[in-house]
Amino acid sequence: MLNPGQNNMTFYSKTEQDTYNYAKKLSKNIKSGDILLIEGDLGAGKSVFVRGAAKGLGIKVPMPSPTFTILNEYNGKYKIYHFDFYRINDPLELYEIGFEDYIYSGGVTFIEWPSKAVDLLPKNSIKVNITFENDIRKIEIKWKQ
Ligand SMILES: Nc1ncnc2c1ncn2[C@@H]1O[C@H](COP(=O)(O)OP(=O)(O)O)[C@@H](O)[C@H]1O
Ligand SMILES: [Mg+2]
Repeated sequence: MLNPGQNNMTFYSKTEQDTYNYAKKLSKNIKSGDILLIEGDLGAGKSVFVRGAAKGLGIKVPMPSPTFTILNEYNGKYKIYHFDFYRINDPLELYEIGFEDYIYSGGVTFIEWPSKAVDLLPKNSIKVNITFENDIRKIEIKWKQ
């Protein structure tokens, strides 16, 4: 499943636990400095995915949604930055919170709703797209080119 030569991967998830476990497995391929952009509608399972991946990176504490705080920070194998841009109206707000200092600090960054500030995000990020139809989530991953 985790063939590094395979740049695009698709997984179909039936339950929250499926998504969590899949992300936890994938986290073995996540390295220091990686940025994961997680796209998907409200309730798609973006936060579930982040929690699973973060668990795989050694985060043991509960991870509440950063929707209102924009950023939650954790200490695991790496520093983990969990952003949610849902409430960002102007991408320039991200400069005010020192966004660039975080993403280039050598930690691992997860961003929900990256489309809110797409121009500010590095092109070589890992892209995760979650769509759903009839209770089946389709999780597509594009590793860095
Ligand atoms: N296959 C699935 N994967 C992830 N979440 C699922 C799945 N099926 C149902 N759910 C439910 O959908 C919701 C996803 O919530 P959340 O991860 O907070 O969404 P998002 O962050 O994308 O808005 C949870 O309530 C979860 O229990
Ligand atoms: Mg969320």
